[in-house]
Amino acid sequence: MGTPHISAKPGDFAETVLLPGDPLRALHIATTLLDDAVEVTRVRAMGGYTGTWRGRRVSVMGTGMGIPSSSIYATELVREYGVKRLVRIGTCGGVADSLQLGDIVLGIGACTDSGVNRARFKGMDYAAVASYGLLAAVANEAQRQNIAVQVGNLFSADLFYGPDPTMVDTLAAMNILGIEMEAAGLYGLAAQYGAEALTVCAVSDHLRTHQSWSPEQRQLGVDAMVRLVLEAVVGA
Ligand code: HPA
Repeated sequence: MGTPHISAKPGDFAETVLLPGDPLRALHIATTLLDDAVEVTRVRAMGGYTGTWRGRRVSVMGTGMGIPSSSIYATELVREYGVKRLVRIGTCGGVADSLQLGDIVLGIGACTDSGVNRARFKGMDYAAVASYGLLAAVANEAQRQNIAVQVGNLFSADLFYGPDPTMVDTLAAMNILGIEMEAAGLYGLAAQYGAEALTVCAVSDHLRTHQSWSPEQRQLGVDAMVRLVLEAVVGA
């Protein structure tokens, strides 16, 4: 058995899967944060792992960058492996002036210049939104741990190197918090296949102040965010 992009056996994935873009981050999470993690797939070096957090099963798998790559893995996980909850964990570029490096953004919705949700919705604008249950779980756990999070809209860009230098101003004017490259596709496919999805991002660079995290800060900051997510969606 297997899919074109995942070689795991039926039942190898937990019902909740964390989805970092970077496959090495998936490996890092599996080996340093989860207990008893085993590799369940490794097609095109895109590792997927299943282990436990506080005794409960959870999986983590890299997706690559952008809606096309992440949608392939997320769709196959939901359609073929019975995955119910997809939590993208990653970084975003800060757009809102209220955000500092390292702040955590919960994407309650995701705007995009991608056409994927129009393709799903007969050309109409689909409001790509997170699962309220997952969002509330992470927001509540953050409050319990006294970790500040901001809840708002993300923008999922098709082009990392876009042609329009005024884009950041346009996004800021519409109250977008951060820019990343996957959330809108994930939310659309979760709706299509009846799964729950959430995107949680740490601000790794700021598009207005041009500050950015060092690699060490990125590692530590994302690890802290992942612990929060694990506690909220698996540990509770
Ligand atoms: N653009 C798109 N995706 C990102 C960025 C960005 O500036 N920073 C982190 N992910």
